[in-house]
Amino acid sequence: MVASPVGRNSTINLQNRMIVTTAQLYKHAYGKYAVGAYNINNMEQLLGLFSGNVRSKAPFIIQLSKGARKYADKRMLEAMIRTAEEMFPEAVFAVHLDHGDEETCYDCIASGFYSSVMIDASHEAFDENVAITKRVVEKAHPKGISVEAELGQLGGVEEDIKVDEGHASLTNPLEAVEFVKQTGCDSLAAAIGTSHGAYKFKGQQSLHFDVIEDIQKLIPGMPIVMHGSSSVPIEEVQRINAAGGKLDPSARGVNEEEYLPAAKLGVTKVNIDTDGRLVWTRVHREYFRDHPAEFDFRPPGKIFVEEYAKFIAHKNGKLGSAGQLDGVRESLKG
Ligand code: G3H
Ligand code: 13P
Ligand code: ZN
Repeated sequence: MVASPVGRNSTINLQNRMIVTTAQLYKHAYGKYAVGAYNINNMEQLLGLFSGNVRSKAPFIIQLSKGARKYADKRMLEAMIRTAEEMFPEAVFAVHLDHGDEETCYDCIASGFYSSVMIDASHEAFDENVAITKRVVEKAHPKGISVEAELGQLGGVEEDIKVDEGHASLTNPLEAVEFVKQTGCDSLAAAIGTSHGAYKFKGQQSLHFDVIEDIQKLIPGMPIVMHGSSSVPIEEVQRINAAGGKLDPSARGVNEEEYLPAAKLGVTKVNIDTDGRLVWTRVHREYFRDHPAEFDFRPPGKIFVEEYAKFIAHKNGKLGSAGQLDGVRESLKG
């Protein structure tokens, strides 16, 4: 059996298995590189995820959304992650609840499996967001689980909450100081110009580095989390459409070259889901286009695992997390 996640301040047992706390990963990464936080829903993604991270020698965060916990069943996800951990003993990673509501946060805190939870009450007014986040922090901290909270609203779609693109509002750095002080949260999901899904922007856009810089200046050392970080590569969209897809060819995401400059300013966790879904869609559409008589799902599944592993290793290169594994292991000893 895997050791349960350790407390934020406790030392880690280095005996081969390696679910660590998110805080431990942040401590090593802050200001130097960003840790990739990848959303996972099925076995093929998990195999590719572990393989890509081990291959690129990167620490990583597995994100489970409410939707994923419902789709695959939270017990199945936990069992698969524990098995992957046995299969890839070199991997160092944390397990995180993505976009939780209060009830789901409490379920994850009670489970003893999660390293950290995200409470997303960003759709509420400031005071209500503070009150909800504070309640979650009070339940999580005694168990050594850290809490990510969101302030400001991204465009696009988060779980069931729809935020109209036109009303997306960036995080106010001064409000962020107050929010962190009042809630005691451990990391801050900030609206810095991104949105979820494949349709983020049309045309060239940049992250709001001014907002990131101000947050770092005002709350030094506070890990900033970037949601909606997929880059929606144009080649991927074109290949999907050439194989029968109908994605908007003008869809654009975050420029991958901006991950590292943002990381230097305190963006320590970068959330990526959509780009991985695009890999899945491209592999399967192309496979069945080219093999119309096939009905065995394993051949494309195998291709997907390898393509997803390559994708993860590529992202880790851009995030600066590739090659950090030995350093992380050293820092866990201290
Ligand atoms: O931010 C949302 C994530 O991409 C998770 O998506 O709720 O469809 O699992 P999901
Ligand atoms: P993308 O849709 O850009 O991949 O963002 C994922 C995310 O923020 C998960 O929380
Ligand atoms: Zn998100």
